[in-house]
Amino acid sequence: MNNVRTMIATTALPYANGTIHLGYILEAVEADIWVNFQKMRGNICYFIAGSDAHGTPVMIQAEKHGLSPEAFITKMAREQLADIEQFGITFDNFYTTHSPENEQLSAAIYQQLQKAGAIIRKTIYQAYDPLKNMFLPDRYVKGTCPRCNSPDQYGDNCEVCGATYGSSELLDPKSVLSGATPEARATEHLFFDLPHYADQLKKWISGPHVIKEIQNKMQEWFDAGLQTWDISRDAPYFGFKIPEEKDKYFYVWLDAPIGYMASFKNFCAKHPGLDYDAFWKQDSKTELYHFIGKDIVYFHTLFWPAVLMASEHRLPTQVFVHGFVTVNGEKMSKSRGTFITAKQYLEKLNPEYLRYYFAAKLNGGIEDIDLNFKDFMQRVNSDLIGKIINIAARTASFIGKFFDNQLATQLTNKPLWELFIGKQSEIADYYETRDYARVLREVTALADKANEWIAEKKPWQIAKEQGGSEELKEIATSALNLFRILIIYLKPVLPQLALSVESFLQIAPLQWQDINTPLLAHSIKSFTPLMTRIEEKQITEWVQ
Ligand code: 2FM
Ligand code: ZN
Repeated sequence: MNNVRTMIATTALPYANGTIHLGYILEAVEADIWVNFQKMRGNICYFIAGSDAHGTPVMIQAEKHGLSPEAFITKMAREQLADIEQFGITFDNFYTTHSPENEQLSAAIYQQLQKAGAIIRKTIYQAYDPLKNMFLPDRYVKGTCPRCNSPDQYGDNCEVCGATYGSSELLDPKSVLSGATPEARATEHLFFDLPHYADQLKKWISGPHVIKEIQNKMQEWFDAGLQTWDISRDAPYFGFKIPEEKDKYFYVWLDAPIGYMASFKNFCAKHPGLDYDAFWKQDSKTELYHFIGKDIVYFHTLFWPAVLMASEHRLPTQVFVHGFVTVNGEKMSKSRGTFITAKQYLEKLNPEYLRYYFAAKLNGGIEDIDLNFKDFMQRVNSDLIGKIINIAARTASFIGKFFDNQLATQLTNKPLWELFIGKQSEIADYYETRDYARVLREVTALADKANEWIAEKKPWQIAKEQGGSEELKEIATSALNLFRILIIYLKPVLPQLALSVESFLQIAPLQWQDINTPLLAHSIKSFTPLMTRIEEKQITEWVQ
């Protein structure tokens, strides 16, 4: 075993005004698998997240629900976490950006940005709703697209022709909140001087912090030139007040990533041995990994590192970017009925099926991940249940029936067993690089080998002809040992299944190093089915 590594892993913080959908579950599953793997290897990995509580949409939604923003976000965060946890996601801390820790850290970082000369004041013109008496984000203005004349388009981009623009360019703009025609009003805003950090960012991005495709994307941004970033919003706004300003709040995207630090700080307060600063100081020896979707790369590879640079903190070790979830080849969309919430999934289907399926598709790249119902059913039924679980299903009963649930004292298939354990460093590398698709391909190939071997040995025939012979005992024991190795390989993906197997085999929680020692002369429990197949009917009912 190498030296123990110490790290923090995060998922993006889901907005408190939305329900958890399969897009977020994909990210949480990808991160959870990685964290489980690190922990099984004996590394220290803190899995940190929380709810992204601030911003205009949260404020408006709270109002619609007749709740104060505080009451609304508390209720939402609780519901979000409950949904997420049902997928077996095990955060070490799930907190909220609306916390005293975050308020204090955001103010302190802002002061460091000021000290570094990175805050600029500018007067801008923004859409103002004269009935609601508030400035409107572009998304809260709708009107006719200035390019293709399609009616009813948002103030930031046209869904028909794809044009992007500001809300002041819409023909015939209306406030989404009141229907009033917005006025352009002058307001002074605070900007972060992102261009000042362009060279440092370029240097950082050329290191091993993001994959090649993202480096290329960022090169395009550098070529286009970086812009100063507006970090302030006018009242009314749900967020943190900017120190020494009147009626100005931090834009949600300033304090959201600081929320990673704040959630970790909150975790440290509950674990007195932990030194918060050791994780965030410039020369920290710990590692920091952010799992995010490709829509928020800009925030995590430009703004966030620049804010960390300017405020003299450590930078992320790596930013892991994944693609979007599509459903049967289509973008998840509410209007097309392809938007699936975590709750809707959980109503009918076992969360471990989805963990397995997402893992089979995740390869560390940024391509979209398609949830195809047919493929989903086929992979779970044929590969996971039909191949992997089948190894135990077809051999365990002999141990119960003839040997009083006692395993043999030696293996009879040493070369095959060695082949299985010989895959450990290769599979570990795949986990490390988030190529879970290859992990599952290797595991399935090994399962095929185990099944072929069992078919050759025909334990059922031996049982019929000889009853409980030593040969039968060793064959069944050997098969169960192959199965046990596959379960160790799969445990980061399928923690619930691993738990059931640990209980069936009457063993302590499996660790990666357990691969090397076979389970012999050990008494197990009687076998009961570990997982049931997906019925076609479950899917069709669910789709309806
Ligand atoms: O895009 C989103 O859903 C944001 N709420 C993610 C925030 S990630 C982090 F910076 F907090
Ligand atoms: Zn258009």
